[in-house]
Amino acid sequence: MNQNKTALPIILAIDTSCDDTSVAITQGLIVLSNVVASQTQLHRPYGGVFPTVAKQAHVENIDPGINLALKKAQLNWSQIGAIAVTQGPGLAPALEIGVEKAKALTLEFKKPLIAVNHIEGHLLSVLAQPKIKKLSTQPQTFQFPVLSMIVSGGHTEFILVKAIGDYEILGQTVDDAAGECLDKIGRMLDLGYPAGPVMEQFAKLGNPLIYKFPLPMTETHNFNLSFSGLKTHARNLIESLTQTKPLTRQQIYDLSASIQYAVFRHINYKLNRIILEYPDLGQFWLGGGVAANITLRKSLRETISQHSAAKLLVPYTKRLCSDNAAMIGVTAYFKFMKQEFADPKKLDRQPRLSLKMI
Ligand code: KG4
Ligand code: ZN
Repeated sequence: MNQNKTALPIILAIDTSCDDTSVAITQGLIVLSNVVASQTQLHRPYGGVFPTVAKQAHVENIDPGINLALKKAQLNWSQIGAIAVTQGPGLAPALEIGVEKAKALTLEFKKPLIAVNHIEGHLLSVLAQPKIKKLSTQPQTFQFPVLSMIVSGGHTEFILVKAIGDYEILGQTVDDAAGECLDKIGRMLDLGYPAGPVMEQFAKLGNPLIYKFPLPMTETHNFNLSFSGLKTHARNLIESLTQTKPLTRQQIYDLSASIQYAVFRHINYKLNRIILEYPDLGQFWLGGGVAANITLRKSLRETISQHSAAKLLVPYTKRLCSDNAAMIGVTAYFKFMKQEFADPKKLDRQPRLSLKMI
């Protein structure tokens, strides 16, 4: 795809699906600005996202976020071609703030409205490009069919991408998401919230083979995943290790390494089976918060290279792995080109929206 920068619409995108208020300005695949007001500190005492706290923070952060995104992109409202917003999935009270704000702006500034599925946003986040002239003018080549892997705190899915907008979910978690599993076990180890990034650092100091974890779902003949068994195993293990004395620092490092290894081994096991059944996959895309993890990326590349020369694409910056509105703007661009607009009088949040409903 060759991008003619002058002709492409400029999109103001909003994502308030969970605990981050994000506003971005994109043009085609190029990210002109991407503002994220993180609520991590607010939710830390709860060890997870507290919906009413998230809603209140979105209310406070949304207008400053919009103004800052416009300022950073050095643009004003007259230059905005459309407004995009995450419709779902996500936390209902959180989604509501973004959707209502986008609808109000659409009516006030008379711009078309584009409703975006948050999972499709993570899926297409690998296509976003930075505002560097040399990179932004490079043509983007897609090699379909693509296998997209979304690994986040809310989702863990394998999606077959036949074309942009044509998706088939091959497998998904039947209980916790991978990031949720890391966060819950991290909580047992007092690693704070979210635990995933801390666990990645601690894992570097530990031995992943000291504590053995089961490999889930090997008997099922599908590509679904399950992480709740790993969580139970970790709880029992930690309880037995702490019966007589608290964990040593080295034990925490070894547990972090072993748990991370177990979670990623499960994903790689299923990936391997998918590649065997779909040998003609042309590219692999990785998105979602856990995609920031270098050990996960390395292990996926190893699994892929055992079968094919196809590349694993990851977002150009880790900031596009976790929740952000830039990926919503990029997704909206494809919808804009197909003139897929939403009715601002009818659009409503859809907390349980799935990719199948696109
Ligand atoms: O995509 P995201 O920001 O929010 C959801 O839509 O879920 O993902 C957040 C998740 C959290 O579970 C967090 O612990 C995890 O991503 N995460 C990581 C890393 N950075 C974020 N997990 C492992 N290693 C990391 N470096
Ligand atoms: Zn997300």
